[in-house]
Amino acid sequence: MCGIVGYIGARPAAGLLLSGLESLEYRGYDSAGIAVMENEKISVAKEKGRLAGLREVLDTSPLSGNIGIGHTRWATHGVPSVKNSHPHTNTDGTIAVVHNGIIENHEALKDYLQKKGYSFKSETDTEVIPHLIDYYYDGDLLSAVRKAAEKLDGSYAIGVISSKEPDKIVAVRKDSPLIVGLGKDGNFIASDIPAILSETKDVYLLNDNEFVTLTKSGVAITDADAKPIEKEIFKVQFSAQASQKEGYDHFMLKEIHEQPVAIRNTLRGRLDKDLKLNLDNLKFSDDIEKLYIVACGTAYHAGLVGKKAIETLAKLPCEVCLASEFRYGDPLINKNTAVLVVSQSGETADTLAVLRMAKKLGNTVYAITNVVGSSVAREADYVFYTYAGPEIAVASTKAYTTQLVAFYLFAIHLAELKNTVRQSELDDMKNELLHLDEVVSDILKSDDEIKKLAADIAGERDIYFLGRGLDYFVAMEASLKLKEISYIHSDAYASGELKHGPIALIENGTVVISICTNPEISNKLNSNVKEVTARGAKTIGFTACLSDTAAYNEIIKLPQVDPLLAPLPAIIPLQLLAYHVCTAKGFDVDKPRNLAKSVTVE
Ligand code: AGP
Repeated sequence: MCGIVGYIGARPAAGLLLSGLESLEYRGYDSAGIAVMENEKISVAKEKGRLAGLREVLDTSPLSGNIGIGHTRWATHGVPSVKNSHPHTNTDGTIAVVHNGIIENHEALKDYLQKKGYSFKSETDTEVIPHLIDYYYDGDLLSAVRKAAEKLDGSYAIGVISSKEPDKIVAVRKDSPLIVGLGKDGNFIASDIPAILSETKDVYLLNDNEFVTLTKSGVAITDADAKPIEKEIFKVQFSAQASQKEGYDHFMLKEIHEQPVAIRNTLRGRLDKDLKLNLDNLKFSDDIEKLYIVACGTAYHAGLVGKKAIETLAKLPCEVCLASEFRYGDPLINKNTAVLVVSQSGETADTLAVLRMAKKLGNTVYAITNVVGSSVAREADYVFYTYAGPEIAVASTKAYTTQLVAFYLFAIHLAELKNTVRQSELDDMKNELLHLDEVVSDILKSDDEIKKLAADIAGERDIYFLGRGLDYFVAMEASLKLKEISYIHSDAYASGELKHGPIALIENGTVVISICTNPEISNKLNSNVKEVTARGAKTIGFTACLSDTAAYNEIIKLPQVDPLLAPLPAIIPLQLLAYHVCTAKGFDVDKPRNLAKSVTVE
């Protein structure tokens, strides 16, 4: 999963490409490179590692010219290295390409091209593309790109420049995001909107198999059959500022603190002060007897909470599945099932594949996503947008809590459609939902005790999380947050499971963090905690059940809310805990090792 950008216009390209790549680094940062057209000749600069390395190269040997393409890489084929960095060129350097995605048939294509006399320099799948364009080039770059794209299996968002036609950029997408930015003195391509937001808010959202030719004077879009396509300009609603840190040390901390606003924005227009719910655009057939909720990572954890909300309120059976398992698990999809995919980015390859599989099998597909115009958004039958704003940090926070809001609204909507719960109960739930932003704001007012706890546990090798029922799902999300940015080994267990094996892991001093928000089962959890305390564990309780806290060495109080809504406030201090442990260890909060923000490859 990588980030690509391109510019053609009246201004020098290199600087614009670098600032675009800066906004795209969260998509991958193993290496970066640009190719610029200067006096009808292509010059390429690339460097392993983060963008700063490429900037140093360009400080020493600047590239001038006002047409160019750029790339920041998350390695999939070929280790991070200069040789494997994009842009990749054809043999005589007259064609340069940047690519986000995976070419699944690259070996066969490489073999074919080598037999035609082409030689390869890199270990990447991408390098077949410039050679293939070269092979098809007969005086028309767009036509050569179209022919090459026909041969490519897999996913791609491609930007191409060529000294054979030095006054244009050609681009195309399939299963990888790509947008066109319409600037006042030039035009852009980019993997996503923040990359060009400081230059323009007017964009075209490209669909799969749409080709775009950018010149200084305009943009032409055609389909796979070379038929012209007229597109509406999409006006971006969030500001460039919204995708910057706004004074916080890290995007993750900014996004944790943005959650009250994000929750309010997600409720806005859907649930008003009169407790009227407006989700009428989400049609839901009575024939649907089972809902598959499918997602990855944090979105999957939100789905687990969503299942409980939908089953409790709407009495609709749900099954929550990991997208990577579901798509190869031969699921029992039929005319009485529907699928709900959850994806912050709307570009996660496994989740997108499930969406397409479900649609092919005739199922209605609902989607909860945070990115307007994303592939998931455009291909689902019904989309519920979370309005969390751009989430840049790899560790998802505000997307998670707004996904929970989406599920709560969806569950209440279905309960009202099916008349499964007393209206007064639903109204109480809605009323509490409308005040959750204040509950979260209160938690965020002071995180001194969390900071102190983080300093105490930052040196641990293993940290375990426990919970029962919904608190187990919170424990799973808390554990993922901690491990993915602090690199501490962490697992979450249903506390009733300890005796079935995991308790063997408890040694003297092992840190065990438990979450308890439901008074009805707090005594059960407390006895599990006492079992690990008896074996030497250091137990920390994140709890709203303060009647019996003797089991814990330390307590972090949680607010008391309806147990069904409790996962939302409960996760806030645990997000902060992960953040402060990571900063205490001096690791990169927003760009943790080995990870990328959106996994657009399998
Ligand atoms: C969350 O902190 C992780 N970065 C990761 O698990 C993420 O939730 C997962 O990759 C799904 O991404 P999506 O919501 O964009 O589909």
